[in-house]
Parts: sequence; C-alpha cells; structure tokens
Amino acid sequence: MSHHEKWALILGASSGFGAACTRALADAGFNIFGVHFDLKSTLPRALQVKADVEKKGRKALFFNKNVADDKNRAEIIAALDDYFKQNGGGTVQVMLHSVAFGNLKPFIAPDPNGAVDRKAMEMTLDVMANSLVYWTQDLVRANLLGRGSKVWSMTSSGSHRVIVGYGPVSAAKAALESHTRQLALELAPKGICVNCFQAGVTDTPAFRMIPNAERIKEHIMTLHPDGRMTAPEDIARTIVAFADSKLDWITGTVVRVDGGEDNI
Ligand SMILES: NC(=O)c1ccc[n+]([C@@H]2O[C@H](COP(=O)([O-])OP(=O)(O)OC[C@H]3O[C@@H](n4cnc5c(N)ncnc54)[C@H](O)[C@@H]3O)[C@@H](O)[C@H]2O)c1
Repeated sequence: MSHHEKWALILGASSGFGAACTRALADAGFNIFGVHFDLKSTLPRALQVKADVEKKGRKALFFNKNVADDKNRAEIIAALDDYFKQNGGGTVQVMLHSVAFGNLKPFIAPDPNGAVDRKAMEMTLDVMANSLVYWTQDLVRANLLGRGSKVWSMTSSGSHRVIVGYGPVSAAKAALESHTRQLALELAPKGICVNCFQAGVTDTPAFRMIPNAERIKEHIMTLHPDGRMTAPEDIARTIVAFADSKLDWITGTVVRVDGGEDNI
C-alpha cells in the first residue's frame, strides 16, 4: 500500500520555511519525515508542527537531531528505510534542506575573538551547504530517492551580494548553489531533480539573528513595490506546485521566490 503514499523529508521542519513547507505538503497529501534541532525552549514549536501534520490526517515521524552529524544522518536514514521496508516500500518524493545554523561574525574585527575563525567558518559551510551533499548521497545509496524525486534547498541573494555580518553564510550559499548544480548533473540519469529556492528576505527566527535585521526589514518594505517581505508560505505554495511529477525537466537551477526583490 505504502508506495502509493507520498512522503516528504524536511530538514529544518520546526520553524520558518521548513515548518511552512511541512504544513503545506501535508495539506497536499504528503506524510512527513521531519528533522529539526531544538532545545527545551524551542521544542514546543516542533511538537506543534508535528501535531498540525497529524491533525491533517498525515503521518509525521520527527527526529530532534543535528543534521550535520554523520551518525545522526545514518540513524535517521536507516529509520526511513526501515519504515518503508515494513510498509511495503516507497521513496521520498520531496526533500527540503532548510537548515539555518550559521556564524554571523565579521571577517575583520579589532578583537580577533569578534571575527569569524576557522572552526566557525567550517561549521557554517558544513551545516548550511555540505550537509546537502551528504544527505543526498546517502538517500540515493539507500534507494530512498528515485525517478521523479525533487531535492530542494534554500539559498538567498547573499550567494551573490554582500551583507554586513553575513560573510560565512554568503560563502555557504554560494557553495550550496554549486553543490546543487553538481548534484543535478550527477543525478539527471536517475531522474532526480535538484534545485534551490532563492527566498526574499523573510522574517523568521534565523533572519532576526542577522546584525541590522530591523534595518534590512524596513529597507525591503520601503523598496518593494508590493510593500511586503517574502513569507514562509510563499515558498510553501511553490514547493507544492513544483512537486507535480510532470515537472521533471527543471534541475540544477535557482528558482527565485522573492516577488522580484533581487532586481531592485
Ligand atoms: N529568513 C530569510 O530571510 C531567508 C532568506 C533566504 C534563505 N534563507 C534560508 O532558509 C533556510 C531556513 O531558514 P529559516 O529562516 O526558515 O530559519 P529558522 O530559524 O526559522 O528555521 C531553521 C530550522 O533549521 C533547524 N536547524 C538548525 N540547525 C539545525 C541542525 N544543525 N540540524 C537540524 N536542524 C537544524 C531548526 O531546528 C529550524 O527547524 C536557511 O538555509 C536560510 O539561510 C532564509
């Protein structure tokens, strides 16, 4: 029965884009494997997302684990594999990498402790960019992604623009887009599409950590002809529309969902 079930895997399911996409995909008939990394204070938001999926009559298997840890990744993928084996097979049709865990220090600061260092730089690239490759590799090896599956990740205009305090994350976004092109090329023979969404500036917990977030927000609202920022639901509606199995020729690209913001 279960290969008729639709499943999405959301990395970063408890907040922002990940939470909105989880809810929208559940509305569209997807069951959800959700991964998030929440301590006591933010755990309720993860439980709420899971409860919302179940309220919609879908299954929700959630894991509160760091996606950048090799052992966690192996355990979670083994759990997905077990689930499908015990339920007559199946694959993940939509995967979203929407993980925000970056260092926001400047490269240059009067006190070296105030500047990004090797450990912080490498952690940011590992969590926000390289982990996309490791998850995709292991899912493909376990035959959990197949013809028609879509892999998405979240980039930003920071991949090609400078923003104060965003240096390590900018580097991660540039790497993420490069990883996306490479994965798309190598997975084309298997019929798996790999793309990025470039979201406009969106008021989420991760955005509020960026230095000058309030100023950036005001700037966008003033500049944008529609007078609003991007909302997580803008991405959520798009991921649902692109889940259509007939859309199988869009791969290795960046789909901007920003109301035109990056042209301004
Ligand atoms: N907010 C924006 O303006 C904006 C714009 C463009 C792109 N993005 C990108 O979108 C993605 C999601 O950002 P958001 O704004 O929705 O952030 P958010 O803080 O609202 O959500 C981040 C999610 O990632 C999870 N997470 C963080 N570190 C993790 C880890 N190590 N392991 C597992 N889960 C982890 C959190 O639990 C949470 O579910 C990021 O890649 C971000 O750079 C954000």
